[in-house]
Amino acid sequence: MARRASQHSETSAQTAPRARRGSPKKGRPRRPFSVLVLSGPNLQLLGAREPEIYGKDTLADIHARLSAVAGERGASVDCRQSNHEGELLDWLGAAPSQGFAGVLLNGGAFTHTSLALYDAIRAIGLPVIEVHLSNPEAREAYRKESKLAAACVGKVVGFGANSYVLALRGLLDRLDAKR
Ligand code: DQA
Repeated sequence: MARRASQHSETSAQTAPRARRGSPKKGRPRRPFSVLVLSGPNLQLLGAREPEIYGKDTLADIHARLSAVAGERGASVDCRQSNHEGELLDWLGAAPSQGFAGVLLNGGAFTHTSLALYDAIRAIGLPVIEVHLSNPEAREAYRKESKLAAACVGKVVGFGANSYVLALRGLLDRLDAKR
């Protein structure tokens, strides 16, 4: 049986929902937001992989930062990585029924090829933010096109590991604004 290269690190920071200003609607406690963070092929190699392009942080470092930022905001993250397009599709497809409020997606090279990921993002109806450590548009011609961008609510690129953090803050701000 083929071994699947995937990582599923549950770096969730589950804290009590943050106190809100004003008077909350009676009997309707606010559920803390849970965000799914997906990273695609080769991102398990971060730290060692072309550090001049992607930086020295490992994916575990990034997940720990996201968990801390989410915790500060009374939210949680569930961070996963897979080298398999089908597994990413399965995770995206299950996201609504698993109660996720939104998704950060670094599709890696699938960003530039995967109509299936585009369709999945459209299908789930959750806000998805496209994330990249590098700025693909400033790189090789074959990285300039994203198949995913048109289905996403936004995109954060070029800030290294910080792209994930900025994307998380942006997504949580967006979710808060739509409560
Ligand atoms: C990447 C950019 C992609 O073009 C590339 O294939 C990756 C990493 C990034 O985060 O900068 O694997 O998604």
